[in-house]
Amino acid sequence: MTESDLKQKILLFFRKNKEQYVSGEDISRSLEVSRAYVWKYMSKLRDDGYAIDAVPRLGYKIRSVPDKLFGYEIKNGLKTRVIGKKEIYHYEAIDSTNNRAYELAEELAPEGTIVVAESQTHGKGRIGRKWVSPKNGGIYMSLILRPDVETDEVPSVTLVAAVAIIRAIKDITGIDVRMKWPNDILCGKKKVCGILTEIKAQPDRVDFLILGAGINVNTPVGKLPAGSTSLKDETGYSINRAQLMRQILEELENNYKKFQKKGFTIVRSECKRLSSVLGKNVRIKAHHHIIEGKAIDIDKKGALIVWDGNCERRRVFSGDVSVVSQ
Ligand code: BTN
Repeated sequence: MTESDLKQKILLFFRKNKEQYVSGEDISRSLEVSRAYVWKYMSKLRDDGYAIDAVPRLGYKIRSVPDKLFGYEIKNGLKTRVIGKKEIYHYEAIDSTNNRAYELAEELAPEGTIVVAESQTHGKGRIGRKWVSPKNGGIYMSLILRPDVETDEVPSVTLVAAVAIIRAIKDITGIDVRMKWPNDILCGKKKVCGILTEIKAQPDRVDFLILGAGINVNTPVGKLPAGSTSLKDETGYSINRAQLMRQILEELENNYKKFQKKGFTIVRSECKRLSSVLGKNVRIKAHHHIIEGKAIDIDKKGALIVWDGNCERRRVFSGDVSVVSQ
């Protein structure tokens, strides 16, 4: 049993006996480890920030849980089979969780492996931009996926993930966030989450895909770039990041399974319903050119269909969209 597994089991034991003291003897018997081990692990959990009371003859009780995205905290109660059930690598600070996940994927880490950090020093955004990642307020996570898809299906995986994140945010906070195709999640006009998908691929098949998501959860808006907001700022209260992350992983697994079985069509209508750009006049910076027109559809491959007002319809696979006034 790894250190992380044992911490998770101890926390689960506390959870089952909530509000009550649990004796070191009961923990040691239930987990089949020595009393000395239990004592050692209580002290490790305290070092991680858990406030644990110890009362002679009664045992231990957890008074408070740290606001951290430890793998064993996220796994506690996580109802998935693959996503998040493999290793969750947690860092206080890292350059970029996407970079670390890419390295791990090259070392053959399995699908479902996650890298999560409390802060990033060089968080990456799309098109060479940076993702501002101040400590302890956000979720900065990267998930390794190994879908059996061709490279032109990759944009649709991003949309599948965006829909899952939107659902999870709605479930936990009640906020009706929307998707600005293809990978921004907005609260009104302000950005609350960005997704960066990176791949390693052969000419026709994808070897692996890194799905990176940055979510402004409890980050004070003053620490974020202009035009951004955080879930805390929108709701007025702090959100439990581990709980939100569990919800995201569960929704992600759900959507990803459906996508693997039936393809993008299965989430297409929801994707269209959640879109903040459909029906609007848009301006898209795509590679080295600009496309202008009305966003009229998201097609079977996840491409945005833009109509120029005359006879031309363009299929756009990626780009930076802004809504222009009607
Ligand atoms: C964007 O909106 O431009 C995409 C932002 C993606 C940011 C996330 S944070 C976790 C992961 N690691 C990174 O370096 N970037 C992504």
